[in-house]
Amino acid sequence: MALVSNFRGATGLQTAESIADMYRDAWSRFATGVTVITTVEPSGAVHGMTASSVTSVSLDPPLVLVVIGESRQTHALIESTGRFGMSILDAGQTKIAKHFATPPESRGELAAENLAQLSRTPVIANTIAAMDCKVIAAHKAGDHTVFIGEVQSIQVGEGDPLVWFQRQFGGFADSVSDQNSTSDSE
Ligand SMILES: Cc1cc2nc3c(=O)[nH]c(=O)nc-3n(C[C@H](O)[C@H](O)[C@H](O)COP(=O)(O)O)c2cc1C
Repeated sequence: MALVSNFRGATGLQTAESIADMYRDAWSRFATGVTVITTVEPSGAVHGMTASSVTSVSLDPPLVLVVIGESRQTHALIESTGRFGMSILDAGQTKIAKHFATPPESRGELAAENLAQLSRTPVIANTIAAMDCKVIAAHKAGDHTVFIGEVQSIQVGEGDPLVWFQRQFGGFADSVSDQNSTSDSE
């Protein structure tokens, strides 16, 4: 079976280097949605960063988390402002995802019409959902920080999600057979 014969590293000693490579490969196989985390620079300009390491944490109170590398400009901006916006991108927003995944000095301009304001925080316009979050905790973990934000304002739109899988942007395909459907059992 292809899945088993292609499986690497199941036996034998692994070096730190091979674990690092396989760590990236393993996580590239975990399909996620795509968000843009937005903050505000001291000048008042909007700053954004594409992020897939996000998840919901708690419903009461409503908490989310985002995991941000210490070297990212967004990291310092969240630390100084104590807030961030989280925008869940629509399938048609690959260009925006690529823009905010590019190092800030090489990005160029993004048309102002792609930005909107949600309560106290800028967000991306026309997304399938967006949240305004206040940082309530920050946990350093390795070379990243887990920022936990309390959702203080939220909006939900229509549309299909942008998906990130194996280092590529794509869309959601509902190709799973009915046998795997969970709708009747939940
Ligand atoms: C699909 C995708 C998801 C990403 N997710 C994250 C993430 O969750 N955390 C992170 O620190 N960087 C992530 N990145 C990398 C940042 O988007 C990238 O380094 C960006 O240039 C950082 O911008 P900044 O330095 O302006 O904050 C991701 C990149 C891509 C393409």
